[in-house]
Amino acid sequence: MKSFTRIVFVAGFLSTLLMGQWTIDPQIEAKIDELLAKMTFAEKVGQMTQLSGINERYEEMIRKGEIGSLLNVVGAKETNRIQKIAVTESRLGIPLIFGLDVIHGYRTIFPIPLASSASWDTALIRKTSVIAAKEAGSEGIRWSFAPMVDIARDPRWGRIAEGAGEDPFLGSAISRAQVLGFQGKNLSDPLTLMACAKHYVAYGAAEGGRDYNTADMSERTLREIYLPPFEAAVRAGAGSVMSAFNEISGIPASANKFTLRDILKGEWNFNGLVVSDWNSIAEVIQHGIAADKLDAAVKSLIAGVDMDMQGSCYIPALEPLVTNGTLSIDLINDAARRILRLKFMLGLFEHPYVDEELHKEIILNSEHIQTALELARESIVLLKNEKNILPLDRKKIKRIALIGPLADDQQSLLGCWQCMGRKEDVVSIHDGLKNRLGGDVVIDYAKGCEINSDNKGGFKKALQAARQADVVIMAVGEHAYMSGEGHSRSNLDLPGVQPELVTAVAESGKPVILVLINGRPLTLADVEPQVAAIVESWQLGIQHGNAVADVLLGNYNPSGKLTASFPYTVGQIPVYYNHKNTGRPPAGGVESLNSKYIDCPPAPLYPFGFGLSYNTYKYSNLKLSSNPLPIDGELLVSVQVQNTGKRDGVEVVQLYLRDLVASVTRPVKELKGFQRIALKAGETKTVEFKLTHEHFSFIGMDNKRIVEPGEIQVTVKDLQDSFWIK
Ligand code: NOJ
Repeated sequence: MKSFTRIVFVAGFLSTLLMGQWTIDPQIEAKIDELLAKMTFAEKVGQMTQLSGINERYEEMIRKGEIGSLLNVVGAKETNRIQKIAVTESRLGIPLIFGLDVIHGYRTIFPIPLASSASWDTALIRKTSVIAAKEAGSEGIRWSFAPMVDIARDPRWGRIAEGAGEDPFLGSAISRAQVLGFQGKNLSDPLTLMACAKHYVAYGAAEGGRDYNTADMSERTLREIYLPPFEAAVRAGAGSVMSAFNEISGIPASANKFTLRDILKGEWNFNGLVVSDWNSIAEVIQHGIAADKLDAAVKSLIAGVDMDMQGSCYIPALEPLVTNGTLSIDLINDAARRILRLKFMLGLFEHPYVDEELHKEIILNSEHIQTALELARESIVLLKNEKNILPLDRKKIKRIALIGPLADDQQSLLGCWQCMGRKEDVVSIHDGLKNRLGGDVVIDYAKGCEINSDNKGGFKKALQAARQADVVIMAVGEHAYMSGEGHSRSNLDLPGVQPELVTAVAESGKPVILVLINGRPLTLADVEPQVAAIVESWQLGIQHGNAVADVLLGNYNPSGKLTASFPYTVGQIPVYYNHKNTGRPPAGGVESLNSKYIDCPPAPLYPFGFGLSYNTYKYSNLKLSSNPLPIDGELLVSVQVQNTGKRDGVEVVQLYLRDLVASVTRPVKELKGFQRIALKAGETKTVEFKLTHEHFSFIGMDNKRIVEPGEIQVTVKDLQDSFWIK
């Protein structure tokens, strides 16, 4: 029996790993004091106002100091032109900050975030954020509404495409990488972007996976699952955080004092600015906690939202509420201060304009395209490879049937945030295969059907192509806007008649390789048995086709691992790897009374962390440095990994922990370490993980992060051991 002596942490989750948060600069604060002293109430709320686009009315508002930021205005010349109005024609000359959704690239479009998270390559993800910042910065943008760090356990939710999947540990590592990438070493460098961790918070927990829907959860789940990637962003120095659309257990996120002022600005000491999501302050009226825009503004200000995106709630008409004592002027001053602080840190007062020539050598340059190819290859997950049909043997294959509505598509490969990406920059799967195969192999292309229609008119031609081919490659899935904001689905099968097309083609008897293009986990239980191989390629951006061809032909040995579970059926959702055990874990037959379905397995078809390669890897010698471990001690876990295949490859080594007996129930496994290691054919490496008390910590009964003594199980692949915390 374990005694519950515990250490309570004041410091944040994995704080030692996630340092980087900036501190207040007294010189900047002095400049802000000076400025605030000169500002009228209207000018202060002007700074707190962000509007989208530009028109004559907005230009006039800028002259009057009534706008602090614009979003969705692009181009060096255009941003300079508008900036000049703010700097030279407004009373105080305060520069604007231009924001944009630079989510997975600016013009060089990289894989969607769900895809890139499957690379588990935080260094490369960071590099893509650096590139996105350079491209956007060269055109006058200094603020990206990214990273999107919402944990998503429900693939019906279309916005699962925009984040790093279901796990808070991996999600935190990726969140940090993106913030560091966007913001660089010095935010005043004009080729950096202020990051914005969004959507704070629990937006991914929308009931039924329906976007914008209610999220209701315990404080423990909030702190343990949904908050950590935000805390990681803050500790990495993120300049801004976006308050979400959803309510959290009865209080809308954009008027939520507990999450914004108490946790974010209080516990985490966040000194940056909070921007609302698009009109999310005004939407608290619809949520039913405010009577009108002024009421909504007061609630959001008290909660801690500093800037109003597109809601026009922070307006001079609030001034009488200050006079009559409803609203404290300190809240207005603090919000304006935070915005001005970031403008100073971004160097906007010193260099408000962008060099109009700069973008010419930056946008879509060859290094950026090469990086897009690398990340696209690493993001691909091999889900099935029966009889090692992949990689294709070029000596044996003379004719390929390339079938499917996405085989020759370019637009969909850009994903749900296409930013300044252009269709013509994108290599389709058809072109990728042609590029890599040269003229040696005949590619017989047939679309078969549209992405989402009931017309089977194209089936005949597709079947003809299949019958004549040595192998069939089918590119099927979703178009770009079947995921992303406002695009939730209740059915996660391949859309339209695509499942029937797969069946018809598979009946030709030719081996079928399914290449999936999609923004979320799909339900594949019906198509899976019909095909020889499944290559999950998501939406990989401009180099999609080349990356897929490289994997199919063995130029690249797939290494991606899923970061969101693929359910058998929609009825299983939410199904995620770090679930609780329950009092009746799902073992035993269908007759037994335990936590299961009578018509479907309890586990997903493909779980978090899963992904095949053209190699096999052997794990051995799991060793723990000390046992027992003092409650504040450190533990080294080492394991040997051997590449037992014939090709060089990369393995993502994953370490999971399980706290067997604790004062509150703990998940059956939790990721607490991962490393991507390159192994030559036959090579063995020892991988070491350093674990500290923070890795063993959890949110206890009183909603504080604690460590308790007791037994902790360590799992790396199929090896297991355990140690005691004393
Ligand atoms: C609404 C979306 O929820 C958010 O992610 C985005 O940054 C803003 N619109 C601005 O486009």
